[in-house]
Amino acid sequence: MSVVSAIKRDVDLTSYNTFGLAAKAKYFVELTNSNDIGELVSWIRAEQLPWMVIGGGSNLLLLEDFAGLVVLNQLRGIEVSETADSYSIRAAAGEDWHKFVKWTVEQGMPGLENLALIPGTVGASPVQNIGAYGVELADVCSEVEYYSIHSNRTQVISSEDCQFAYRDSIFKSALKDQVIISHVTFKLNKSWQAKCEYGGLKQLEADISAQTIFDEVCKMRISKLPDPQVLGNAGSFFKNPLVSNEQLAKLLCRYPDMPNYSATNGLSKLAAGWLIDQLGLKGYTVGGAAVHQDQALVLVNIANAKAIDLLALCRHIRQQVWQRFDVLLQPEVRFINSIGEVEPTLVLGMPDAGE
Ligand code: EPU
Repeated sequence: MSVVSAIKRDVDLTSYNTFGLAAKAKYFVELTNSNDIGELVSWIRAEQLPWMVIGGGSNLLLLEDFAGLVVLNQLRGIEVSETADSYSIRAAAGEDWHKFVKWTVEQGMPGLENLALIPGTVGASPVQNIGAYGVELADVCSEVEYYSIHSNRTQVISSEDCQFAYRDSIFKSALKDQVIISHVTFKLNKSWQAKCEYGGLKQLEADISAQTIFDEVCKMRISKLPDPQVLGNAGSFFKNPLVSNEQLAKLLCRYPDMPNYSATNGLSKLAAGWLIDQLGLKGYTVGGAAVHQDQALVLVNIANAKAIDLLALCRHIRQQVWQRFDVLLQPEVRFINSIGEVEPTLVLGMPDAGE
């Protein structure tokens, strides 16, 4: 059966986005074979439709019904090869990220354990350059394979060329809407060393195993972050903001306890969750949307939230943080309108100068 004949119409996306927002896709298809991508791309072209790929739907804010084709990436398969120094693991984009991490640790191939329990799929991991507890995808990824809409063929890009940065990559800029990621290859060095510098992992012994780190990370995430199966959410809603060291010095005079981490280019990163928490916004609600009680950086769907509830809540938080700290929070979650991803500022506007 051709993949085009498997395309469904008017599909409800509620269960395909972890916020649990009700939006429909005009067309919807499950991609299970990478050889089908070319046929799908020809169809999209002929119909002149917008399209987007969904993996776990764990980082999306669906603003309205989608007017084109949603491709649910269900590509599966993992292949391992090894050299004397490292394992090379090629995983299909539709593999569940956490199950994949768990499997590598169980197989005695350490290196991904700090990234346990991040919701989503392998294919989404390079787009956001996912990161947690001192490790990010850029540290472990060697290459990404994708189908190029432009050249109509499969291409490979090395990790060095992916322009990985904090929650950013080439897939959000030059290659945005240009590619369908099919596989990601990871290089895990056999001379593995535990990475325990980050917060809650600091108390662990230096000779700790990858399995113990995996278990600790799972424990920490479960204690702080709501399970999307129970309470709709998309992880951190905002990025941790970067400020100049000059602004940091000013802020520290007023707030000596403010968490901060040095970043590149003479900038420092602040903890957006701390800023929101300081404003007493944990538990603050707008319609069916709320700031999570335990982690202020996470917005949750407490009662059939609509996208407009989340937008209003997001605007309120940006306004408050702007007024108190002179810092502009940028969403980490990707905003999707009827034709595709849209720059959040275009939707949210800018905070007012002050009241
Ligand atoms: N904090 C508060 N109140 C809060 C939340 C945080 O005071 O409500 C403080 C914490 O006490 C800590 C600091 O803020 O001093 C940072 O908090 P945390 O360690 O929980 O991490 P985060 O900066 O909020 C980032 C990532 C997470 C990742 C964790 C752990 C971003 C946007 N978020 O969160 O990633 O799991 O570090 O490494 O960078 C995600 O991207 O979806 C995500 C969950």
